[in-house]
Amino acid sequence: MFNFLPEQASEYAPDVDWVHHLITDLSVFFTVAIVGTMIYYAIRYRRRGGVDHETPQITGSHTLEIIWTVVPTIVSIFLAYYGIEVYRKMREIPKDAVTINVWGRKWKWDFEYETGKKTTSELIVPVNKSVKLVMQSRDVLHSLFIPAMRTKKDVIPGQYTYQVFKPVKTGDYPVFCTEYCGTEHWNMLANLRVVSEAEYDRWVHDLTVEGGTPAERGKILYTEKGCNACHSLDGSAVIGPSFLKLWGKQEELADGSKALVDENYIKESILNPNAKLVKGYPAAMPAFDGQLSDDEINAFIAFIKTVDGSQPVVKIAAPVKKDDPAEWAKLSPVQRGEKWIKEKAAPACVTCHSLDGSKLVGPSFKGLYNREAALEGGTKAVANDEYIKNSILNPMAQISQGYPPSMPPAYQTQLKDEDIKDIIEYFKTLK
Ligand code: CUA
Repeated sequence: MFNFLPEQASEYAPDVDWVHHLITDLSVFFTVAIVGTMIYYAIRYRRRGGVDHETPQITGSHTLEIIWTVVPTIVSIFLAYYGIEVYRKMREIPKDAVTINVWGRKWKWDFEYETGKKTTSELIVPVNKSVKLVMQSRDVLHSLFIPAMRTKKDVIPGQYTYQVFKPVKTGDYPVFCTEYCGTEHWNMLANLRVVSEAEYDRWVHDLTVEGGTPAERGKILYTEKGCNACHSLDGSAVIGPSFLKLWGKQEELADGSKALVDENYIKESILNPNAKLVKGYPAAMPAFDGQLSDDEINAFIAFIKTVDGSQPVVKIAAPVKKDDPAEWAKLSPVQRGEKWIKEKAAPACVTCHSLDGSKLVGPSFKGLYNREAALEGGTKAVANDEYIKNSILNPMAQISQGYPPSMPPAYQTQLKDEDIKDIIEYFKTLK
């Protein structure tokens, strides 16, 4: 009956509008019918010539009551059904959707594409392809609204939300923030530009991104943060589940429930690993809360998606950080050892070994030097120079009792004899 809606530029816009018009038209019809009748009776039976009429006593009518109960019930069920159906369709994520990360911040929208390309205040998408926006806020609650696509979703700090749409026409469409977020909320706008697929591909691949694509950056984090110690890429179970074909999987959890491996699941599993523990694996992972920025987590998720079995697994060598030799020589042995333990070795030793006596994946380094350690198999060993050197170079040879055999043999290539001597000097200070 009425049409005040913007252009229908997405695949399901006609469905959304159909439900919208149905509800509006029915509301208008009943409003006119009820208010019209009311006005008609008010005029027809108004007080005339100063004479009061006595109102007749009318008792209930079953027929009327049934009609005005049953008809609105049927209408409501019908509206709810179509509303849910259309919404369900809008929340489906097609497998081939183009994924774009969205950041809301006071008071701008930032977008990052799969190749690492970034834009601010302009969102560029290909026509006739499903687009999935994976959204996060850097500060407060925002909400991303694209009227022409008929899609809107809150953008929340500390959590991923998403929206999916499939543009069917090229052109420029306004994007709004539709959640009051401060003084410049009114101006938190962006432009959605829908271009042909060929043009999109050319644009999104035409770049030299510093530090590589998000997936490449995620791959570096995989070794740098020591994930490779416990999570394989080839499907073999180490201490934690393999990353092979992990994305989109329904994981069976220790408590018997299931969880879909999506953005929120991965983020939670990094920051708070024991929240959703996968069945059959120990609660051995240290929390990475505070060690990874939100951007790094996005990159890591991009990397996980690439481990889908389509590429043969390439062993990734841990990057060794370069130090200026002159500067390095100026440090004392203890300082050099400390650097190795805290940051230089990859994966970082402190990911699994604490310095304060607390138990992580491996034994604490506090008081380690010359400590007598019970080993798996019932033997004992004193943590002297020889023992420490062997444990670094060949971690599986002597396993401390009560700890998983999870230390990667990644250090032979990184550490020379003199580096191990420095590390031992550092251990001696951890009393
Ligand atoms: Cu952001 Cu309103």
